[in-house]
Amino acid sequence: MIQTVTTTPFSDQKPGTSGLRKKVRVFAQPHYAENFIQSVFDSLEGFEGDTLVVGGDGRYLNREVIQSVLKMAAANGFGRVLVGQGGILSTPAASHLIRSSGAFGGLILSASHNPGGPDEDFGIKYNIGNGGPAPEKVTDAIAARSLVIDHYTIVDAADVDIDSPGTRQLGDMVVEVVDPVAAYADLMESLFDFGTIGAMIAGGFTLAFDSMSAVTGPYATEIFERRLGAPSGTVMNGTPLPDFGHHHPDPNLVHAKDLYDRLMAADAPDFGAASDGDGDRNLIIGRHCYVTPSDSLAVLAANAHLAPGYAGGLKGIARSMPTSGAADHVAEKLGIPLYETPTGWKFFGNLLDAGMATICGEESAGTGSDHVREKDGIWAVLLWLNILAARKQSVAAIMADHWATYGRNYYARHDYEAIAKDKADALMAALRDKLNALPGTSNSGGTIGSADDFAYSDPTDQSVSRHQGIRILFDDGSRVVFRLSGTGTEGATLRVYIERYVGPDGNLAMETADALAPLIAAAQEIADIRGFTGMDSPSVIT
Ligand code: G6P
Ligand code: ZN
Repeated sequence: MIQTVTTTPFSDQKPGTSGLRKKVRVFAQPHYAENFIQSVFDSLEGFEGDTLVVGGDGRYLNREVIQSVLKMAAANGFGRVLVGQGGILSTPAASHLIRSSGAFGGLILSASHNPGGPDEDFGIKYNIGNGGPAPEKVTDAIAARSLVIDHYTIVDAADVDIDSPGTRQLGDMVVEVVDPVAAYADLMESLFDFGTIGAMIAGGFTLAFDSMSAVTGPYATEIFERRLGAPSGTVMNGTPLPDFGHHHPDPNLVHAKDLYDRLMAADAPDFGAASDGDGDRNLIIGRHCYVTPSDSLAVLAANAHLAPGYAGGLKGIARSMPTSGAADHVAEKLGIPLYETPTGWKFFGNLLDAGMATICGEESAGTGSDHVREKDGIWAVLLWLNILAARKQSVAAIMADHWATYGRNYYARHDYEAIAKDKADALMAALRDKLNALPGTSNSGGTIGSADDFAYSDPTDQSVSRHQGIRILFDDGSRVVFRLSGTGTEGATLRVYIERYVGPDGNLAMETADALAPLIAAAQEIADIRGFTGMDSPSVIT
């Protein structure tokens, strides 16, 4: 039954920030997905007879690639595969399933917040036994293997029914189709005070959750509407669709504009939130009050003890380098360590495993904790709801109180999308060349204190990751950071992160754009973005 298929390598299968992401038409080439899946299996050792988890966000190609994974897992010697019913597993639910089942690892099929459909994006990511994205040494091995692969193995069998729950046989391997939602919802119920949140909702607190026609629909409906008693209709766009109903499932102010407008309206609900394609990102908007992801991390960390799962306090906080320093002020006050890692959730896994950090977050709308090894959109929403229920204050009041205590890190990210790769590389190279000359010079942003190319040394295994972004640090604590995105599928995206800190006694009520204007001008001056890219303004500001 096992077939050996001869193949030739593809030169573009090196995983990026979060797995291999490509256009559907690239993945749909004969052998493309199979080559990558075999490269993953070939890079792992000791999984014979063991369990693999597989599921995805339901996007276009999800079902087809799941069949390839099942048949190849059987041919490669896995003993059992757990697959979410209908092929559905949100990224955090997959992480939980890997951990709770003691699986060897898992394959998550998603391109996260990128659009889906025949002309859009697909992706495959391998997660290790701790439930988190594979570390760089594994993704490097997969990339190396993909360049020399000459065959893959697959069982010759009919497609497996993944729509009805239960156990079936595929060659020597067992396929178990599991409920994608129940165990995850139970985990959430064990961390948060559903009684108090439910009482707040019963008492008239109103919320809106936008699933963006992506994977969180069934999770959000079960948790917010069934278990917490929010009225039906609380969950918007709650059915996962292969093309996300043409939504761009990225929960930011551009792509979740309907939700934003609703929260800014005169009759706005008390709270609004959204998640992305695979359910790991979150957007938080209070009534007439948008919360930046970096501020959200800080508020969640400062108030986490109000939720039962974190009543014992936090061991540490971790944030990615481009994320604002708002959480640093909280860590300082709590007297716990703050870790600054490169962009990519995979860098948090070791800190969480070692018990060094409890809560992690990124500017890219990701927040999570040691309950799984992925960021978790619904988790962040529930922690916010738990805090609101415990403090009995509005989001706006909590933000104002937070800034008055810790000061405010004004923050924005400017993305320049679809730049030719050589131009983006040239811009970064020119920046690197002038790093040594910058300290001591002044510009519209102030005087530059230091400038470097961020490198991270993992405190648990001493592995070093270099070239993780150019940091320009000003004397007054302001920052401009430049890096190229590792998740795009076309051309290059330049990200410019701009941050200015104002202490508790300063002006905490400026418009973000005004507060940052001098630094934005400085970024243009230092990097000559217009000259290199030909773009006068960013494509997206978040
Ligand atoms: C994914 C990763 C995050 C990362 C984000 C942006 O969501 O899981 O860890 O922050 O992409 O990455 P990028 O390389 O595009 O800035
Ligand atoms: Zn995602």
